[in-house]
Amino acid sequence: MLLANRLQPLQANVFADMDRAKAKARAAGQPIIDLSLGSSDLPTPPHVLEAIAQSLSDTSTHGYLLFHGTQAFRQAAAQWYTQKFGIPVDPETEVLPLIGSQEGTAHLPLAVLNPGDFALLLDPGYPSHAGGVYLAGGQIYPMPMLPEHQFLPVFEDIPVPVLAQARMMVLSYPHNPTTAVAPLAFFQSAVDFCQQHDLVLVHDFPYADLYFEGDALPSVLQADPDKTVSIEFFTMSKSYNMGGFRVGYAIGNAELIRALRQIKAAVDFNQYRGILNGAIAALTGPQDTVKAAVTTFQQRRDAFVEALHRIGWQVPVPTATMYIWAKLPEVWATDSIRFCTELVEQTGVAVSPGAGFGKSGEGYIRFALVHEPAILETAVERIAQFLCS
Ligand SMILES: Cc1ncc(COP(=O)(O)O)c(C=O)c1O
Repeated sequence: MLLANRLQPLQANVFADMDRAKAKARAAGQPIIDLSLGSSDLPTPPHVLEAIAQSLSDTSTHGYLLFHGTQAFRQAAAQWYTQKFGIPVDPETEVLPLIGSQEGTAHLPLAVLNPGDFALLLDPGYPSHAGGVYLAGGQIYPMPMLPEHQFLPVFEDIPVPVLAQARMMVLSYPHNPTTAVAPLAFFQSAVDFCQQHDLVLVHDFPYADLYFEGDALPSVLQADPDKTVSIEFFTMSKSYNMGGFRVGYAIGNAELIRALRQIKAAVDFNQYRGILNGAIAALTGPQDTVKAAVTTFQQRRDAFVEALHRIGWQVPVPTATMYIWAKLPEVWATDSIRFCTELVEQTGVAVSPGAGFGKSGEGYIRFALVHEPAILETAVERIAQFLCS
């Protein structure tokens, strides 16, 4: 069968290879400790489940939801954003509900790029950012994130011919996988740069609440309060443990929101109204479960980092996200994929290879802290045996 050329760049998927390695280890009877996926193991708050359950028995929620979700959802998202970041948001023109934020970030390039245009992406970065650019027929310019620059891209390094053909820049802090955070001053320089070069500035912000130390994390719209070039993506997956429910939203420049809505109108009929009702309950209800989740991830971080340090593996202590970004021992520095495949086959511990997130991720692996401390410590014991073997 002849299929479209655009499938080509989507074919190399390290995570699918890792799934196969996990399945092989499982079939061989190896008990798996899966630290490879950032899918929270914590429960969705009960009041959220209650709102969804009530919606299920309300037949008025069962039909298609046309246009751009419900007004109640848009208002809840706008109000949540303004309370948190102090920037006014028009729920009618500056908010768009999404079927998870990944859906939105992957669809946006279709609204911004013409074939051949460049998108400036973080390297390493979240795979769907690149996926969306490929689907739109765009080209990717990877902006390397290096420890010597605090994992922030250096805009001056972007070649002039690339800039001339670039239409968008995608940032995401706190960052998956490196766990880096960015100060407001960095976002200010990104907004200036994008204004100067006529670029759309996208900020994917799923870990907005998952920070352990210091001040609240900045939103890109605090650096662009008039929303001249920026759009920011939020998800219910992390703060409210709703990954499987697939709900998120975009907030930002009204023209970009309208353009993304037009793309989505050709593709989907929005998330189920009952799930939007659950998201409203999450955004407007008690926030103590968010605090509890942060405390849980902080305790796991401390236990895991301490255990790694005990076996002599020095890793920086992340101040945000649910991940540990670990530099591999020198012998594995050029083959994170083989490290991860052999680790899962020999020990059952599944982690993500840095190379799967982009070229600059090589030499690192990412641990997702999605198990209790006791299991995390067992994982480290097995890793220690693997490293000694
Ligand atoms: C940077 C980033 N964006 C998006 C997502 C996915 O969010 P959602 O569940 O809303 O699609 C993740 C999940 O790990 C992520 O790390």
